[in-house]
Amino acid sequence: MSETDFSAVLSAALAKHADRAESRQRPDDRQGSTPAAPPPDFAAQARAERVSRRVKAMAANGWERRPIEAARSEGYGEARVSGYLDALRRLDRSRLGGVVVLAGNPGSGKTAATARWAIMRDDHAPRFLRAAEFFRSSRYTREGDEGESRDRLLKRPALVLDDAGTEFADASGSYRTDLDELVDRFYADGRILVVTTNIVWATPRQRDAAKGGADEITFSDRYGERVVDRLRECGQWVSSSARSMRGAP
Ligand SMILES: Nc1ncnc2c1ncn2[C@@H]1O[C@H](COP(=O)(O)OP(=O)(O)OP(=O)(O)O)[C@@H](O)[C@H]1O
Ligand SMILES: [Mg+2]
Repeated sequence: MSETDFSAVLSAALAKHADRAESRQRPDDRQGSTPAAPPPDFAAQARAERVSRRVKAMAANGWERRPIEAARSEGYGEARVSGYLDALRRLDRSRLGGVVVLAGNPGSGKTAATARWAIMRDDHAPRFLRAAEFFRSSRYTREGDEGESRDRLLKRPALVLDDAGTEFADASGSYRTDLDELVDRFYADGRILVVTTNIVWATPRQRDAAKGGADEITFSDRYGERVVDRLRECGQWVSSSARSMRGAP
């Protein structure tokens, strides 16, 4: 068979195959009576299944329902929290892990942003933990203990520590060394740590430069200069001055 003959046979065969595939997909068309049903959107179905698997995995990793629902709602606007989301997605792209602090007023969308990132990232669902729970956790698993031990939490590949600054500030100040250890361990192993906090400023200097109120507590007031210094070296501080989105249309 010449080359021209062969390509003619091949295109005829392909056309026939395409016809058959189309009539398989749209059975109503063959009868010519009822309007054609839209072809199933397999990509959208696969996306929805993936999200539902991810949401289940998140629930198993400590995520609460409310931020997941906020992050999945139709009204969720990525542009409103682009600073937070960009920093989180950069973490995944860097492949070297790192520490990101999302700081902002109550309701500025910090927790929902971590949920949005967790739902959409290619990598596994991170562990989610309220800061107060972390500071209360015991170092090793003992009989009768509830929750995960500190030692295991410190080994997670990715951890979101939510609402730092709301934990009980015990007189010994051990929460300061606990946070320092957490940041140090995640940074040293190139893993991902995300901390959210209502403490808007990292240091008094940053607060004063941004003309914040002199009575506003800073992260270094709360956790000490040492942890802020470590964050300077290995972390990223993302502040938002956005007002609360709670109840906003
Ligand atoms: N990007 C967004 N677009 C639209 N609405 C949002 C967005 N992010 C958050 N919201 C709305 O704002 C509410 C508060 O968000 P979220 O709980 O994330 O704030 P937060 O900064 O974590 O607050 P807090 O400091 O009190 O923990 C959500 O329940 C949701 O209704
Ligand atoms: Mg929150």
